[in-house]
Amino acid sequence: MKVLGLIGSPREGGNTEKLVNAIIEGAAENGADTKVYNLSKLDLSPCKGCMTCKAEGECVIDDDMQELYEEVQAADAIVLGSPLYMWEITAQTKLFVDRLVAFVKPDFSSRLNGNKKFVLAYTQGNPDTATFKQYFDYMEAMFGFLHFDVQGSIVAAGTVAPDDILAQEVVLAEAKEMGKNL
Ligand SMILES: Cc1cc2nc3c(=O)[nH]c(=O)nc-3n(C[C@H](O)[C@H](O)[C@H](O)COP(=O)(O)O)c2cc1C
Repeated sequence: MKVLGLIGSPREGGNTEKLVNAIIEGAAENGADTKVYNLSKLDLSPCKGCMTCKAEGECVIDDDMQELYEEVQAADAIVLGSPLYMWEITAQTKLFVDRLVAFVKPDFSSRLNGNKKFVLAYTQGNPDTATFKQYFDYMEAMFGFLHFDVQGSIVAAGTVAPDDILAQEVVLAEAKEMGKNL
């Protein structure tokens, strides 16, 4: 069982990193083979919309996404974490998400090799977990459309300073449990 963690926050050591790591730790405790990348440390270009991937099955951009394509195909489960920036995922996370178009065939079936569980993890400064629920639901639907087996979303709210999440023992325990269940 391989679990891939992707951190979409540019702030190293911040809340999103801690939330994703809690899920990954849970998975590792249950024997998963885990690997984590920080998207902001990678060389990721935006999709240029050439649509070569539709015909060729592969993206033509030669950057670190090529490694991530392999990691996604090798993974049984993926954990994607992002802080909310202006009501949505960070630009770093969006670069990764757009490039997943290479896995979508012209008839909207998938090039993913088998079932891949998918967990979304968010942190937000706003203390109300309900504020962005519509967006979280939309993201789950979108990853379902991309043929990922969406397991759910977790959100740590009211996180502003990088260690704020450490006070949220319930959320961190829930995150670990999500990882174990993968
Ligand atoms: C540019 C920017 C935009 C943000 N936009 C939002 C937002 O729309 N809603 C919100 O609740 N928090 C927002 N925040 C706060 C972050 O989502 C929150 O502090 C998060 O936990 C930061 O994650 P990190 O600790 O991994 O960096 C924003 C922060 C930044 C820097």
